[in-house]
Amino acid sequence: MEKIFVDLGEKSYTIEIAAHSWGTLGKKVRALSKADKAAILTDRTVDGLYGNSLEQQLREQGFAVRRLVMEAGEDHKNLETFGRMVRACADFGMTRSDLVITLGGGVPGDLGGFVAASFLRGVDFIQIPTTLLAQIDSSVGGKVAVDLPEGKNLVGAFYQPKGVLMDPELLRSLDRRYLHDGLAEVIKCAAFGDPDLFARLEQFQGDEDILAHAAEISAACCRLKVKVVEEDERDVGARMVLNFGHTIGHAVERYYHYEKYTHGEGVAIGMVRLTRNTEKMGLTQPGTADRIQHLLERYQIPTEDSISDQNVLAGIAMDKKKRGNQITLIIVPEIGKHLLKKVAFADLEPYVKGWNHDHVAH
Ligand SMILES: NC(=O)c1ccc[n+]([C@@H]2O[C@H](COP(=O)([O-])OP(=O)(O)OC[C@H]3O[C@@H](n4cnc5c(N)ncnc54)[C@H](O)[C@@H]3O)[C@@H](O)[C@H]2O)c1
Ligand SMILES: [Zn+2]
Repeated sequence: MEKIFVDLGEKSYTIEIAAHSWGTLGKKVRALSKADKAAILTDRTVDGLYGNSLEQQLREQGFAVRRLVMEAGEDHKNLETFGRMVRACADFGMTRSDLVITLGGGVPGDLGGFVAASFLRGVDFIQIPTTLLAQIDSSVGGKVAVDLPEGKNLVGAFYQPKGVLMDPELLRSLDRRYLHDGLAEVIKCAAFGDPDLFARLEQFQGDEDILAHAAEISAACCRLKVKVVEEDERDVGARMVLNFGHTIGHAVERYYHYEKYTHGEGVAIGMVRLTRNTEKMGLTQPGTADRIQHLLERYQIPTEDSISDQNVLAGIAMDKKKRGNQITLIIVPEIGKHLLKKVAFADLEPYVKGWNHDHVAH
């Protein structure tokens, strides 16, 4: 079992990662909470797989339990679902000493965390992430939110859980596309901050290896994210490194109206495109883009798209992370390292262009 302590003063908590720990989660929750009532906020798919078992375990620990089940998917991470869920907490008669448990991927995690942050101005919550993305990224860091029609994650809070409990074995029921989506972010973490993890990933042959080593992979990514979050709890600087590949990635995702690519796929295309260019510019050790690309391709994650340079630039111009006329790019000079480079918007083109540039019709 891996225990990672997140040092945030009085808001500190521990991330526990243990394969085959599912049957002990009720006890672990009890160790973290004296609550009478526990609301499990989950989605329909995850509820069908794991809801009964978790409810049973919590009842054995003396909790009164209610399952608050939302429809699965990003489309439901919205104010309507949020409204229904906070009202369900009121209907359950929860008090400020009761508990919300988020069970699922980043969608129930983000929405349920925001419910916990807002109901009665804040009740305790515990995250039980069940997707690779949630285990390595969204359950760590304390960002909770819902989407508006105007944009993603526009309403939310910084709100830390009392604990994060994960059993990587749960990833075995996950659809492969979601596994690979999370894996793109794993490869991102390894590329900018953990050369040993990158080398380990290069040794793995496919999904079975990833699943067999999921505890080790999640622990490495969480350690990296925790380090950055401890430095920058409210996302004003150091967390930026987590955005490697995201500037171009977001532009590609947006250009295809979030339909052609998952978030991880956009990031994959962004990492490869940027790193090819920084290699050409002499900022990155030759061969780095190839290593990133080969690793992604092993998991059938797309790494190239024919989107024109103009369309990438137009997408970046709309990115909310663009501040004034400058943008901070995360560049990987060699595997496991990163540097932050402020680039004026007018000078961005060489960083974002397609490498078969001359042949792309505009
Ligand atoms: N808070 C943060 O810092 C942060 C960081 C990154 C991403 N996010 C958010 O995370 C969300 C994406 O997360 P996600 O990819 O986990 O999406 P998700 O929660 O929608 O899960 C993906 C799908 O997998 C299913 N699923 C979940 N666990 C399963 C399991 N063990 N077995 C079978 N099916 C399972 C779900 O029902 C869903 O259909 C986005 O809303 C994004 O904004 C937040
Ligand atoms: Zn991301």
